[in-house]
Amino acid sequence: MINIILCGGSGTRLWPLSRTMLPKQFVRLFNNRSLFQDTVLRNQPVCSHSMIVSNKEQYFLAVDQLSQIHSHNAQFLLEPVGRNTAPAIALACMALDADDLVLVTTSDHLVKNQAAYEAAVLEAKALAEQGNLVTFGIKPTYPEVGFGYIEANGHEVLSFKEKPDVKTAQSYIDQGNYYWNSGMFCFKAGVFLDELKHYAPEMHQACLNAMPKDGFKLEIRIELDTMNAIPEDSIDYAVMEKSRKVKVVPCDMGWSDLGSFDALFDEVKQPGLENAVLSRLDDSPEPICIDSSNNLIVARERQIALVDVEDLLVIDTSDAILISKKGSSQKVKAVVAQIKKQA
Ligand code: GDD
Ligand code: MG
Repeated sequence: MINIILCGGSGTRLWPLSRTMLPKQFVRLFNNRSLFQDTVLRNQPVCSHSMIVSNKEQYFLAVDQLSQIHSHNAQFLLEPVGRNTAPAIALACMALDADDLVLVTTSDHLVKNQAAYEAAVLEAKALAEQGNLVTFGIKPTYPEVGFGYIEANGHEVLSFKEKPDVKTAQSYIDQGNYYWNSGMFCFKAGVFLDELKHYAPEMHQACLNAMPKDGFKLEIRIELDTMNAIPEDSIDYAVMEKSRKVKVVPCDMGWSDLGSFDALFDEVKQPGLENAVLSRLDDSPEPICIDSSNNLIVARERQIALVDVEDLLVIDTSDAILISKKGSSQKVKAVVAQIKKQA
């Protein structure tokens, strides 16, 4: 099985930790490793090699991070611009054989339970071998509007709804047989491409046009004009909401998309400790907290001290500091928008 790693997101919601030149997946977060490095390591036991689909600007960053974890069997598909996940996955599949089994994963999520993860992947692999498009279902804990929802009965998918409004999301949670789509998929490359051809023929053809014709290469580079000609859409809207071949493997693998500092707080917070502290392992001093609780502190270099404060997100980097109320971290996007306007 081949691990297609989607590595094209810009991750504006973790500013100032993540930047245009250092998207979320490449930021060192836990154990001095990036989520991208953790993704590669997590999939080594279940996949023979990886196919990394990323923007060409991030190629050297990815190669460098791969060498740090001694991973030397990755193939690259380099996009000049992103056209969202459906074209990224389609192009990667077109570079493989129709019968190749693929495990598509994001590069910027957290999975805490490796054993449960591997068990879920093996279950998905068996379903994918039978010609299904397999999704991984996570039990929802709140009505997140940024996710896809899978209505399920065992492995059967009754419906797939991408990004519902909050009322609909809450009604799904109340019904009990809905899962969050984790953004990971398992299928045969050819089965996915046939479904894409059926439901999004223009995208399928534009991707075919964009694929270089000169055979197998370790680095496949897509040209800007042919990439621009590909319609932009996510796999969820283009295929998953429509296909009748979708199956789900419900799993409890300690998954988080770490899509905001509030989500990061939940992962860093340890029972019994007053504050959630994420510091760089090597040289940053421990934050000092006087009568302060329930704060997230990300300390990279400087000494941080908090006095008499609660429920804050304090994110310090070498050239920018973010201070926000807990619960408001979705608004960080607005900060990035403002910075882009000023630039
Ligand atoms: N190479 C490449 N090119 N990668 C991309 C591109 C692109 O154009 N666009 C997105 N990606 C990568 C991102 O880096 C991320 O790892 C993954 O694909 C998913 O893209 P997101 O932009 O994060 O998708 P989303 O959060 O809106 O929704 C997806 O993930 C949710 C779970 O986090 C959907 O699959 C939802 O259904 C799902 O619930
Ligand atoms: Mg996402």
